[in-house]
Amino acid sequence: MQLPPDLKAGLDDVLGALSAGRLKASALDLSRRYRAGPGQGRLPLLQSTQDVSAYLAVRLPATYAAVHQALRQAFAALPDCLPASQLDVGAGPGTAAWAAAATWSSIEACTFVERDAEMIRLGQRLAEHAAADPLRTANWLAADLAHMRELPSHDLVTAAYVVGELSEVAQDRLVGQLWQATEDLLVLVEPGTPAGFARIRRARSQLLASGAHLAAPCPHELACPMAGGDWCHFAQRVERSALHRRTKGAELGHEDEKFSFIAASRQAALPITGRIIRHPQARSGHVRLEICGPEGLRNEVVARSEGARYRAAKGLTWGAQLPWLSPGPDDPS
Ligand SMILES: C[S@@+](CC[C@H](N)C(=O)[O-])C[C@H]1O[C@@H](n2cnc3c(N)ncnc32)[C@H](O)[C@@H]1O
Repeated sequence: MQLPPDLKAGLDDVLGALSAGRLKASALDLSRRYRAGPGQGRLPLLQSTQDVSAYLAVRLPATYAAVHQALRQAFAALPDCLPASQLDVGAGPGTAAWAAAATWSSIEACTFVERDAEMIRLGQRLAEHAAADPLRTANWLAADLAHMRELPSHDLVTAAYVVGELSEVAQDRLVGQLWQATEDLLVLVEPGTPAGFARIRRARSQLLASGAHLAAPCPHELACPMAGGDWCHFAQRVERSALHRRTKGAELGHEDEKFSFIAASRQAALPITGRIIRHPQARSGHVRLEICGPEGLRNEVVARSEGARYRAAKGLTWGAQLPWLSPGPDDPS
């Protein structure tokens, strides 16, 4: 995917005048700190204006792409959900609101909670370029989530790549507060690592215990069947701009952002028969699919002889819904 033109224009404006060399050094430093593990309530990972600029150059495109896919999955599951307002916490430069604006034109008002003053400043500069009014007129609350007693209610609530920056106790508390603030739909996105997935799985249990319905990616509300060190995650490919490539010192024109997420809603979502949870493996004469379904995890092998079903299987991508009801006649499961 590509970033929307208004977001690209904003990034060019905010980052265009900065020294490429300094940006690259900050990006390297930042990625070293993120690889060492999220803050979990200790020192903030973003510590300077250079850090924030580097975040915009190398992380925002990837987190935008991940949140965008998570929201698209939720949108497909809840076609009648038309949020008019969004609360985004740990908003950074407002990434999740940019992705939401590209998903729902119904959003009229946004509130962001973010503790880093420089993130807010650059997020506001980015938003000056936004085509969507609610991004330009957003209400930015400069606050530390750990000290907020309650969060203002909104139709759509998002928290992307922030839960892992809090201590474990603060994570559970935040998930509870986020659900309380949710009128319609809550979407949590974390890195697609075992640790990121563990946080999502824990939030999933907490939300189900609070009466939430699961809209995506899960096709059921039973216990999560992932086991044996495996983890549920998805990937979104995002095009790298020239600035992105320069800042990262990368040659490839794209990168794949891996992420885990959960979308929980007040209303029951449309039922689905299964979710493709890995890249489908197309071999000569068959396609192998790994599926999470109401009955648990299973593999399906769809042979060329199955005609329409085989053609449909060849078109499926990681994260897609399974377009048929039951396993085929030759499936081993
Ligand atoms: C990894 S960035 C994610 C930003 C954005 N959500 C995205 O997906 O691009 C995490 C953001 O959460 C903010 N943050 C971390 N802990 C916070 C806290 N306790 N209260 C408010 N904001 C916090 C950081 O300042 C940073 O901007």
